[in-house]
Amino acid sequence: MPAIYAKAPGKIILFGEHAVVYAQPAIAMPVSKVYATTRVIPEVTGSKNQVHIKAPDIQLDVDLADLDREHPFAVTIQQVLNAVNLDHLPSLTLLISSTIPIAAGMGSSAAITIATIRALTDFLGKPLTAGETSSLAFEVEKIHHGTPSGIDNYVIAHQKPVFFTHGKPIEHLEIQLPTHWVIADTGEKTSTKDTVADVRKLQALAPETYHPIFEQIGQIAFNARQALIAGNTDLLGQLMGENQRLLEQLTVSSPKLGELISAALAAGAVGAKLSGGGRGGNVIALAPTQNTQSIESALLEAGATRVITTTLSKGEK
Ligand code: PMV
Repeated sequence: MPAIYAKAPGKIILFGEHAVVYAQPAIAMPVSKVYATTRVIPEVTGSKNQVHIKAPDIQLDVDLADLDREHPFAVTIQQVLNAVNLDHLPSLTLLISSTIPIAAGMGSSAAITIATIRALTDFLGKPLTAGETSSLAFEVEKIHHGTPSGIDNYVIAHQKPVFFTHGKPIEHLEIQLPTHWVIADTGEKTSTKDTVADVRKLQALAPETYHPIFEQIGQIAFNARQALIAGNTDLLGQLMGENQRLLEQLTVSSPKLGELISAALAAGAVGAKLSGGGRGGNVIALAPTQNTQSIESALLEAGATRVITTTLSKGEK
């Protein structure tokens, strides 16, 4: 039996992070320049039902039997078995790897889970729909992120830009005019689980302060939806600035994020904000034209450890 290989892209949140955990809308798009891959290699010589997992990016090389049952890879496999009504896998090796920066707000955990679900279900001859894959990955995201909104697993499983509200029908954005984005990594690792938990504490202490902030962020995401579809960069830039100021009030920005945002704006970006959990990870800047080079250079000069450019267009649907 030949090896089976599956892939899943990274993602970036454009508007609405954190507020999305409180049932406000958010907008995210897939970023296919970075991706996770999982290869299933059938073992003909291994002992019976032995599943081996190799993930060199995180120095993991282990038998499934020796992995904690709560480990995200063990839970992913259990989710797949439940979905396809099997009680064990045949002997195989899973080779998992990713070019998505870890703990940087680009969905690396969801992409790894989804690549693994796709590879295993293809291998078993029982491929799942995008919706089914997203639901399984959501269960694994809970281990990584505590109380996730589900936006990461959704956008990565569907590979489409989305207007996402937890618990409501999700809208796939039908882009009419392209927009060009530069994503820059601060190099500071961030824990979404921690930032989400900290915001949860803040809002529990002072709901009268924080719920209006979530509502304002939700309104921004709502206004950005139409601006994105129409490619209205001026309005998008303004909305990004407003969203960033509200994220600062949620205490999830950081000096380094602020420096990269200023550098992008000084180099001609029409808007810039942090993306994802914050306190590190990435900023996202909107370029006024397809020529993103001056913004990329300015971000690298300001200390970004990596820049990725991406276009949101009809083709990204
Ligand atoms: O850090 P990221 O990009 O994985 O996403 C975090 C987005 C939050 O809204 C902060 C949390 C969530 O679950 O939606």
